[in-house]
Amino acid sequence: MAETARRVITLDGPAGVGKTTLARRLAAELGLAYLDTGAMFRAVALALGEEAPAWPDERLAEACRAFSFALRGAGADTALLMNGRGIGPEVRSEQVGLMASNLATKPVVRAFLKSAQQTLGRSASLVVEGRDMGTAVFPDAACKFFLDAAPEERARRRVLQLTEQGQEADFEAILAQIRTRDEQDRNRAAAPLRPAADAILVDTTSLDIEGVFAELLRGVQTRCGERAEGA
Ligand code: DC
Repeated sequence: MAETARRVITLDGPAGVGKTTLARRLAAELGLAYLDTGAMFRAVALALGEEAPAWPDERLAEACRAFSFALRGAGADTALLMNGRGIGPEVRSEQVGLMASNLATKPVVRAFLKSAQQTLGRSASLVVEGRDMGTAVFPDAACKFFLDAAPEERARRRVLQLTEQGQEADFEAILAQIRTRDEQDRNRAAAPLRPAADAILVDTTSLDIEGVFAELLRGVQTRCGERAEGA
């Protein structure tokens, strides 16, 4: 079995489906590091600014080469560093999410981050979340999940999350943002969002987080043996 086949668990799916909560929890449960590849796209998008997707490829590739990534620790507390500094909550806004989605249509940026993600995957056993982890970045992973839920349900969850954080949240605006990002992430030419042929599909629309987590644990046991890190 290839190294990645026993050491990487992939969670892909659209915005707002619960990947971050679930991937963190799975990493904690299994004692693996946790990698949020959306945070890599977000951090690069924020650093380069809104105009970056319009730059010529050479300029974009050159700008990307200034970024390096590392992981520290394991489980839910795994820290993702860019150029030696932790990627913080400043990347979490809906606006930066859309900037990341725009930048993610650029093949040169995807190629750069794919290589960085694969390097991180060689440095530690991982639970990794994103859009193309099971299809493009870790195609040999033994354990792949694709989470999905109706856009309305994802918007409802996001509103709840923002309200709990004391932030204002408008359901219709969030639903529109989710639809825009879905459209772009699913239809871009470079590594579009879609399930890998061998991914376990989990529709979370009518499941709570405990129900989804139980399905993930069952999948891990079936595909990777009892404990993923012991493989
Ligand atoms: O998972 P997220 O919402 O933090 O991701 C932000 C954007 O980054 C998402 O809309 C598309 C892009 N992305 C991607 O194209 N591939 C990934 N593996 C992760 C994120």
